[in-house]
Amino acid sequence: MIEDGAQSHGASCRGRASGALGDIAGISFYPSKNLGAFGDAGAVTTSNDALAERVRTLRNYGSKQRYHHEVKGINSRLSELQAAFLRAKLPHLEKWNAHRQKLASLYFEGLSGLPELLLPPRYSFSTCVWHLFVVRTPLRDRLRSYLTDRGIASQIHYPVPPHLSGAYADQGWKRGDFPLAERYADEVLSLPIGPHHSETQIHYVIEQTRAFFG
Ligand SMILES: Cc1ncc(COP(=O)(O)O)c(C=O)c1O
Repeated sequence: MIEDGAQSHGASCRGRASGALGDIAGISFYPSKNLGAFGDAGAVTTSNDALAERVRTLRNYGSKQRYHHEVKGINSRLSELQAAFLRAKLPHLEKWNAHRQKLASLYFEGLSGLPELLLPPRYSFSTCVWHLFVVRTPLRDRLRSYLTDRGIASQIHYPVPPHLSGAYADQGWKRGDFPLAERYADEVLSLPIGPHHSETQIHYVIEQTRAFFG
């Protein structure tokens, strides 16, 4: 099982840390992530020695020994400079995640009970680090422009489901083939959440969102 840990630095499920949930995990350190570098960066975690060896080889032109290429690889080594940025930021991750969790709890308190707004699910067996706070509503586009007009930025993660993207055009999929993915793409909205947001700002988002539905 391959785990996608791009949005879950510090999260856990049934007491097990993200990055250790499957056979191998991919972790993104893209600058906007909970732990972000100063440019593109990422890591792979695994407890499987054979997989670790394979990834080390693949990231280095398919080579374990210089100029000897066993397999077709790529250049995907983590730059030392990015590693240094990550090392400086890592000690803050727990504090930043706790802040995100506090802001998420404000959203849950402040946005409950709106019939046309679906809040993200929460599970007692997992600890979420709220990389995004994704709500759903059939009025998504109207809500988004209402918030934009009031100085509140939001994002859509993601507006085009993979089967409708040009990259998979050769598969011949059309609208209606994956109705749930299409519905999510039409209804999801990511509200502001991050270590740089204050509680006052989140209260303002809540107030304006309630005003929209009211
Ligand atoms: C869930 C998820 N998986 C994978 C990725 C890809 O990460 P990267 O851009 O570092 O390759 C992202 C980045 O947005 C993501 O959010």
